[in-house]
Amino acid sequence: MKNIVILISGSGSNMAALIRTANEHNWAKRLNARVSTVISNKADAEGLAIAKLRGIATSVVDHKAFAAHPQPREAFDAALIAEIDKHQPHLVVLAGFMRILTPGFVAHYEGRLLNIHPSLLPAFTGLNTHARAIEAGCKFAGATVHRVTAELDHGPILAQAVVPVLVDDTADTLAARVLTQEHLIYPKAVAELLKNTLNP
Ligand code: GRF
Repeated sequence: MKNIVILISGSGSNMAALIRTANEHNWAKRLNARVSTVISNKADAEGLAIAKLRGIATSVVDHKAFAAHPQPREAFDAALIAEIDKHQPHLVVLAGFMRILTPGFVAHYEGRLLNIHPSLLPAFTGLNTHARAIEAGCKFAGATVHRVTAELDHGPILAQAVVPVLVDDTADTLAARVLTQEHLIYPKAVAELLKNTLNP
């Protein structure tokens, strides 16, 4: 069975869409895959409760616990790797995981690490993507599923969705429109990847 590990920091709506799709489309039978655990860097991430309700194991690796370490990012990433690798993941799926990962972490999961970013990459890497798209006068915005490489929000693109930017949009209304598309393209992109590697 191929294990999928999902990393979250907040509301976990993409995580919920992945779990729902995995159940509805019977990934266990059809793709020999399951969401085996959800890990958060924040103990109060709302997504943890949703995962628990769905019967998925959860854990927390709190980045703040490593603040006093001489190399806090490296120490956090090492602890995160140890937690993730308990599940021997076929894929590690970042779903609103709001930490920048070290090159060592990215290298450890080379070819197995995915992210969703709320813009049409390569435009608007980083934060506040919706406000910046409105500010720039974009007529379209969207989301991108991509493989993770050491450079933030770069890496080969696997899927994109496009939505219109409406004249009265705020960052929040645009974000909500983009998010509905994220919930469709992320599970679809993960399923495609699993299909392409059907053998155990
Ligand atoms: C999504 O827009 C995702 O693209 C971005 O953060 C948001 C997370 O939402 N990285 P959720 O936690 O999946 O609800």
